[in-house]
Amino acid sequence: MDRDVTRRHFLHTGAGVAATATGAWMSRAAQASESGVAESGKLKIVAVSCSPRRGMTTAAGLQIALTAAQAVDPERIEVELVDLGGLNIPGGLVVNQPLQPGERDDFPEVAAKLAAPNLVGLLVGTPVYFASMSYLCKAFLDRCGMFRRQNFALSGKVAGVLAVGGVRSGGQELAIGSILPILMCQEMALVGEGRPTGHFGARLWNQNDDISADEFGIATAQGLGRRVAEVALERAAT
Ligand SMILES: Cc1cc2nc3c(=O)[nH]c(=O)nc-3n(C[C@H](O)[C@H](O)[C@H](O)COP(=O)(O)O)c2cc1C
Repeated sequence: MDRDVTRRHFLHTGAGVAATATGAWMSRAAQASESGVAESGKLKIVAVSCSPRRGMTTAAGLQIALTAAQAVDPERIEVELVDLGGLNIPGGLVVNQPLQPGERDDFPEVAAKLAAPNLVGLLVGTPVYFASMSYLCKAFLDRCGMFRRQNFALSGKVAGVLAVGGVRSGGQELAIGSILPILMCQEMALVGEGRPTGHFGARLWNQNDDISADEFGIATAQGLGRRVAEVALERAAT
């Protein structure tokens, strides 16, 4: 917990400046941080849904995981779902490609949530797009490179990955496998869904935009949320 980035540090050291180099960016990050980072004293687990379709099956799967995470210790854990659906996360900024005239950059608000001083865990959820992550997920993870430049601000936070596909074995494991190494580059502490299945993360099957019939997938989502919470609590105690 001692490596948390405080809001002051996050803002004053210019996190993400390389991505945009504008005063407007800083001011928006400051506003987002002021309003979005509660000093509740609880340990926070954030889930980021990387489907461009807001509120759909990836978000639903993550909500299941978050509910299981909070149930581990409701007194000590708070959770938040951040849905990137409908947001604009321009990936080209990482290589200084300018925004189009009038184009919005919604990443700073999301980054401010991940810079919350009490953040202990992160769930990344993606739909399976041709056996890999969504374009939105890649843009989000590329933009998160700014945390590395901030003295690896996500280092040691617990991370797990969830993937939802349109077919039972449609590449969920491959999509998860495309994300885990990126989280390793952030020095995050990776977990899977734990026992009894004990593999790479949450793997869900979307049937007609509904995951409620996928008992196996729901169990992996619950296991992943539980595991992130349990390991985060263990680490907070040391
Ligand atoms: C471009 C594209 C590629 C896809 N490729 C796969 C795939 O390889 N395997 C699979 O199981 N589902 C695939 N799907 C289906 C989505 O993974 C599935 O519908 C998912 O639940 C969508 O997530 P959402 O409901 O959160 O948007 C693909 C969908 C799109 C749009």
